[in-house]
Amino acid sequence: MTRAESIRCTLCGVLATGIVRIERSSPTGKAFARDASKIPSGVLVRHALEHVFRIRMFRPLDMLAAVRLQETDDQTATIWARYARSEAVHDRYFLRDLKAMGVDRSKVEVHRPFGATLRLGKFLESAALEFGSVPIVLYSFWAEENSDVGSAPIIDAARERFGTESARGASSHRALDENLDHAEVISRVLAAIIRDDQELLLAARLLDIITEFVLDYFCELDAWHRDCSSVVRSRPILEDYGVSARL
Ligand SMILES: [Fe+2]
Repeated sequence: MTRAESIRCTLCGVLATGIVRIERSSPTGKAFARDASKIPSGVLVRHALEHVFRIRMFRPLDMLAAVRLQETDDQTATIWARYARSEAVHDRYFLRDLKAMGVDRSKVEVHRPFGATLRLGKFLESAALEFGSVPIVLYSFWAEENSDVGSAPIIDAARERFGTESARGASSHRALDENLDHAEVISRVLAAIIRDDQELLLAARLLDIITEFVLDYFCELDAWHRDCSSVVRSRPILEDYGVSARL
């Protein structure tokens, strides 16, 4: 096993434990992880909105990681910067999908990210100032590994509920992950910046904390869905978003 494979294997173990915690604690988290057909339509829309906010939030964070990497490893910094550039503009894919779901740009912009997303951003910024690029690259590890395993059924669920156009952006995003082998790129970056077992232990702990923020996000999504369901019991949840879905 190469060093990159061994690091990936350790971190995948942390991810697997985190996903079990999420499944046990959050009904929407469980649906996203196990059975996308059970994700409520309103939750699919709200989740796509959060993708937009998260991608925007990560632009400066990914730049911060690039700056921290340049201090020590120019070659890896170049690989990371290329990756970060390809991710930075993908909010437009999800904006297109949202429009097809009936949520145009003006409706997107009146929303704010969930608190868990903002707390994740603050944590990663502080952790990057203390530990360098590793915490921010670890979030990409989480995102790319999950894209490999979990995004196809979620894209299918959106296509089934809202039509082909509503999943075109997410499909393109996924295709780029595959064609540019983003999971492999992140593994290579991690192998360059995690230099010994001590740093691998720290990375495992940081990744565990990141999964806690993701769990918080799904709990917030659960609460959001419960609130929508109780407030608008007499009309479709998606009216709040101007969505005319085929439910
Ligand atoms: Fe990606």
